[in-house]
Amino acid sequence: MKTLGLLLVAALAIGGSFAVDKNNFKTCDQSGFCKRLRPFKPEKSQYTLNLDTVIVHGNVLSAEVTTVDTSTEKRITLWHYALKLSALKDGTFRVELDEADPLYPRYRSLLALNGEPKPDGLKLISNENGKLTLSNTQGHKVIITAEPLKFEFVNLAGDTVVVINDNHQLLMEPLRVRREKASDDEDANMVEVAAPVFNEEEIESGNQLDEGKKVSIEDEEGAWSENFKSHHDSKPRGNEAVSMDFSFPEADHVYGIPEHTDKFNLRTTTSGEPYRLYNLDVFEYELDSPMAIYGAVPVMYAHGPKHTAGVFWHNSAETWVDVVNYADSTVVSSLVNLVTGGQKRRVDARFFSEANVIDVFVLLGDKPADVFRQYTALTGHAPLPPKFSLAYHQCRWNYVDETDVRSVDEGFDTHDVPADVIWLDIEYTDRKKYFTWDPLKFPHPTEMVANLTAKGRKMVVIIDPHIKREAGYFLHEDCTEKGYYVKDKDGKDYEGWCWPGSSSYPDFFDPAISKYYSERYLFDNFPGTSKDVHLWNDMNEPSVFNGPEITMPKDCRHYKPPQDGHDGLASFWEHRHVHNEYGLLNIRATHDGLLLRTDGKYRPFILTRSTFAGTQRYAAVWTGDNAAEWGFLAVSVPMCLSLASAGVSFCGSDVGGFFKYPEAELMTRWYQAGAYQAFFRAHSHIETKRREPWLYDAATLALIRDALRRRYALLDFWYTLFYEHSLDGLPVTRPLFQEYPREEETYTIDNEYLLGDKLLVHPVVEPGVTSVKVYLPGAETNTLWYDVDSYLAHKANGYFTQEVTLAKIPVYQRGGSVVPRKERVRRSSALMADDPYTLVVALDHNNTAHGTVYIDDGETYEYQQNKYIYARIDYEPSGITYSFINEHAHYPSRSWVERIVIAGIKTPPKTAKLHQGDKQLALQMTLHKGNDVLVIRKPGANMATPWRIAFSY
Ligand SMILES: *[C@@H]1O[C@H](CO)[C@@H](O)[C@H](O)[C@H]1NC(C)=O
Ligand SMILES: *[C@@H]1O[C@H](CO)[C@@H](O)[C@H](O)[C@H]1NC(C)=O
Repeated sequence: MKTLGLLLVAALAIGGSFAVDKNNFKTCDQSGFCKRLRPFKPEKSQYTLNLDTVIVHGNVLSAEVTTVDTSTEKRITLWHYALKLSALKDGTFRVELDEADPLYPRYRSLLALNGEPKPDGLKLISNENGKLTLSNTQGHKVIITAEPLKFEFVNLAGDTVVVINDNHQLLMEPLRVRREKASDDEDANMVEVAAPVFNEEEIESGNQLDEGKKVSIEDEEGAWSENFKSHHDSKPRGNEAVSMDFSFPEADHVYGIPEHTDKFNLRTTTSGEPYRLYNLDVFEYELDSPMAIYGAVPVMYAHGPKHTAGVFWHNSAETWVDVVNYADSTVVSSLVNLVTGGQKRRVDARFFSEANVIDVFVLLGDKPADVFRQYTALTGHAPLPPKFSLAYHQCRWNYVDETDVRSVDEGFDTHDVPADVIWLDIEYTDRKKYFTWDPLKFPHPTEMVANLTAKGRKMVVIIDPHIKREAGYFLHEDCTEKGYYVKDKDGKDYEGWCWPGSSSYPDFFDPAISKYYSERYLFDNFPGTSKDVHLWNDMNEPSVFNGPEITMPKDCRHYKPPQDGHDGLASFWEHRHVHNEYGLLNIRATHDGLLLRTDGKYRPFILTRSTFAGTQRYAAVWTGDNAAEWGFLAVSVPMCLSLASAGVSFCGSDVGGFFKYPEAELMTRWYQAGAYQAFFRAHSHIETKRREPWLYDAATLALIRDALRRRYALLDFWYTLFYEHSLDGLPVTRPLFQEYPREEETYTIDNEYLLGDKLLVHPVVEPGVTSVKVYLPGAETNTLWYDVDSYLAHKANGYFTQEVTLAKIPVYQRGGSVVPRKERVRRSSALMADDPYTLVVALDHNNTAHGTVYIDDGETYEYQQNKYIYARIDYEPSGITYSFINEHAHYPSRSWVERIVIAGIKTPPKTAKLHQGDKQLALQMTLHKGNDVLVIRKPGANMATPWRIAFSY
């Protein structure tokens, strides 16, 4: 059996031949339902809403929808469907469509939603002329046309912002009974294995169709099995795909549906492959591609100067998405005229999935921040992470033994480079048996971890979901005995090939298994770990080296809660139904386990590679196995922007690139970029040359050290942003158009971004450059952007040329903002907890500025009992006020303010006096830099109670 390791050696040996093996992954034509559905574009949709059946009850509209064969004079009803439309709070609607009486239940994703959303305030306003008009409490409207079925969503300004089925591509393939074809030799084998036996009664109750129609579809090629390379998919339920089209009038671009290596604004796909959403372990993935990789978050946003809207396609099966942007030069003008009457400001998108119910959330915005918030209201906000996890992580496949770990740890101290976490990849285990340690290389894990934590550092270890099938391995024996593994199509434990060799995979869909798995993380069950050992769940797409497309066969079986009358095919889910959320269930079980091991006292940190809607509730995400090439550095920015817009702000790429070796300049630029991305970890492949920062020349080490110090100085700012994200669900790393939605230039900018609404970051991602073109938004409101190195103010006026040296990281602070910093950088973030703050005040044209700061213990849940400080810092010409946003919350912070830097000051005050409690103190000030930077030295104000500095002129 070949492993990826061997393949890799071969690839590296020939050198430079870094490329994905496309033969391993399906094109649309090789994916049965994609090939079948992509050309589906009838002139008129067969779907009709039966107006006599409409009921509005409990804020939900229910109605029957039927497909009607209109091809002959005689209208024949083919299939019956149940439609539900509900209004949710905050400009969101939900449309659900299922078969009225399906042969077997169709799958609904279990875990993407952060709880079932509550219907709220739906009113039927009118039912006339074949149209229903409904409204929510806020006044957004939905107009449903009965025949053919169409939904138009209207925002508060009266503009139609989303239309469903305008292109007539709504489709739900009804589940059918397979008829055995005794005479078909080719299929004989498959029939025997896959065909369930149904009696005539079941056939009767499950269908309402015309006989002729049924037979013709059953005979269709591939309806009951398909092949890819040497893999056979038995497709026991036959075809069950779903499709829906969405139109976004007045939109210039659509965004979202990560994870792809493409630009943030999505392209028209008509002349190539659609975007694919199917979690896959793609070895040496390629750039600028709509190919599926590790993550699949089926949310899309459409934006134009008038409004923003979105759709969340709540489906965990393999999904493809076609996009037509009528403004793209590739879209022929005849199509523009046909569809939009010549209007180029419109984007259409179509989602189609292999299976499951149709369940779609329509987000009506109407600004970008509104749709991002509406999406995370459904799938959850990332919880406040432990503070160390926002600091720097050092990883390699592999730090080979305890001595290696110790020397890397000491290397950071020797070279005065801060670091918070050392990571261990798969080789720390006893021959790839997770929850064990290699007895020779890691004989003293407890002591090793204690040595790290003595310096305030942590450890992260990897636990992958594949389990080594080895006699005597407790995990394998337990899972085998208790029936905890995913089953193959015949109901036997599924066996695949992964790092340990022959492996099986826990079926996290069974709550009993998830509980068992969570308990493996208890300290007693995983000796050597402590509260300071956190987790990395990799390979959880899941990766199966010998499986179809390097993952699990679609006809594998997952647990389904037993239900009366559900036997045969109705008694389990197939992997095809749940694939994209397998990893989500994996990390949920890990998350539960990490909570369990400290009785819910400490916040867990988990990193995942597989990503789905809702992942942000449990884990951070990295962009997987990239390479030490400039293109991979550059793409990390749009990839993380896309994930952040889809709820996953805690995103980063392997600094330096996983495959290959980064030369000094690339390594420097990658550290500089990583310092301003949320998840900041260096990682490298086992076959590459070692590259801890001090292994580079002294000048490079100094630049890397500088980048790391910048990160540590801003750690409290990052922490505050993540706290605010936990409250409002807005991206921490933001596209420019989120804050400047009318500025059309920003719609296609994805090489720079905002941190909150305060810092603008434009990483240098090209070799040998002496300048970069930076776009500064906000000209309309006279925004100033201060270079964080020089405090030089730039007036927002679109693009300007920023000179750069190798030391320069173009970062700008918005005039009108206050950013907290800590400038005494130490070995780790924990050692900086009580350090004093520097407040950087960047003034706007009105000489005002505002900021926030969040402080707590950095690791426990005590902040949920009001043990924290969340404070505002307001600068007015009369003085600076530090006041608590939640006055009932307190934290005994020992930090104080050691310096206040005020940039852009026009009329400096003559005196400044601190008032804190009973204390009053006259403060010293100095003016710098052409007299426009005022520094208040040692104000000494304590962060634990409110204070004010009063100016006199
Ligand atoms: C822990 O640190 C001590 C003191 O530096 C050292 O002697 C010991 O070998 C370390 N233990 C491990 C397991 O790294
Ligand atoms: C400055 O003040 C004016 C007048 O009060 C106000 O309209 C404007 O929005 C303010 N500008 C900024 C950048 O806050």
